[in-house]
This record gives sequence, structure tokens and C-alpha cells, in this order.
Amino acid sequence: MYPFVLGLHNVLRWLVLLSAVYTLALLLPGVGGRRVWGRRERVAASSFTGLMYLQLIVGLALYIGVSPYMQGILDNFGAALKNSETRFFAVEHIGGMLLAVLFAHLGNVLYRRRETNQGQYRTAALFFSLSLLCVLALIPWWRPLLRL
Ligand code: HEM
Repeated sequence: MYPFVLGLHNVLRWLVLLSAVYTLALLLPGVGGRRVWGRRERVAASSFTGLMYLQLIVGLALYIGVSPYMQGILDNFGAALKNSETRFFAVEHIGGMLLAVLFAHLGNVLYRRRETNQGQYRTAALFFSLSLLCVLALIPWWRPLLRL
């Protein structure tokens, strides 16, 4: 179970990043005006946000029970905070990624309340950019790039 869930969390990272880059490539040219928000934009925004929700569920499963590595960290939380790698997973990774999921969620909800096409592009692009920045900053890049 653990290798499968960890492998899934690992691979989903690439789908999240691909989806974020594709979505922003679609949205950023619309920030200046003129473009009409359409189905392609809506599907891209929902797909990126959906992948973030999925990654949140898989990550929480690892954090709360599936990962023996996390169990060790949570059993000795005080000691884990004194080591930079264990502190990263105990606090920084989960905290920053929760923020990333929140930004994605806000982007996908708030653009719908904007009345102009430009407003929709701007709101979604702003929140998705913030989300991508958090994700890039908080991926443990020293871990394997793929687990197959
Ligand atoms: C709040 C949401 C998240 C939680 C609770 C979470 C939790 C975790 C945990 C507990 C681990 C360590 C697992 C272990 O080594 O046993 C981990 C590793 C990792 N996380 Fe997350 N994560 C979250 C979101 C994300 C997101 C959004 C991404 C990237 C898009 C991501 C990418 C990774 C990667 C690449 C690893 C290393 C996987 C490996 O070593 O193969 N995480 N995460």
C-alpha cells in the first residue's frame, strides 16, 4: 500500500506541474484584455484545481496513516522539529501545500464572480500563479523524480 500511494503522490506532482504550466500559458495572454473566457479556460482551471484536490487527499493519507516515515516523525514530533528534513515534512511541506491548494481553490471559485473576461483571466491567473509558486517552493526536489 505505502509504495503505491507514495508513487502516486510522486507522479501526481508532474501532472499538477504540467497542468499548472498549461493553464497559465492559456490564461496569461488574456490578462491584457481582448480574449474571451471560454470552455477551454474553464476546463483547464477545473482540471488544475481537481488535480490539486487529489494531491491533497493522497498527501493527507500519507501524512495521517499510510506513511511509516511520517508515523516515525509524528511519534517524536519535538525531535523531528530539530532536524531540517523531518521538520520539512512535519510542518513546511504540509503547511505550504495547504496554502497552494487554497490558492487553487480560490482561483477556481473567484474568477466566476468577475463580470468581465479580463477580470476572469486576471483573478484566475493571479491565484493559480500563487499556487504554482508555493508548489515549486515546497516540492522535496532531493527525493526521487519518479518512483515506478
Ligand atoms: C496538503 C497537501 C499535501 C500533503 C499533506 C502532503 C504530504 C506529503 C508527505 C507526508 C510526504 C512524505 C511521504 C513519505 O516520504 O513517506 C510527501 C512527499 C512528497 N510530496 Fe506531498 N503532500 C501534499 C501536497 C503535495 C503537492 C501539492 C505536491 C506537488 C504537486 C507534493 C509533492 C510531493 C513529493 C514530490 C513528495 C516526495 C515523494 C517521493 O519521495 O517519492 N505534495 N508529501
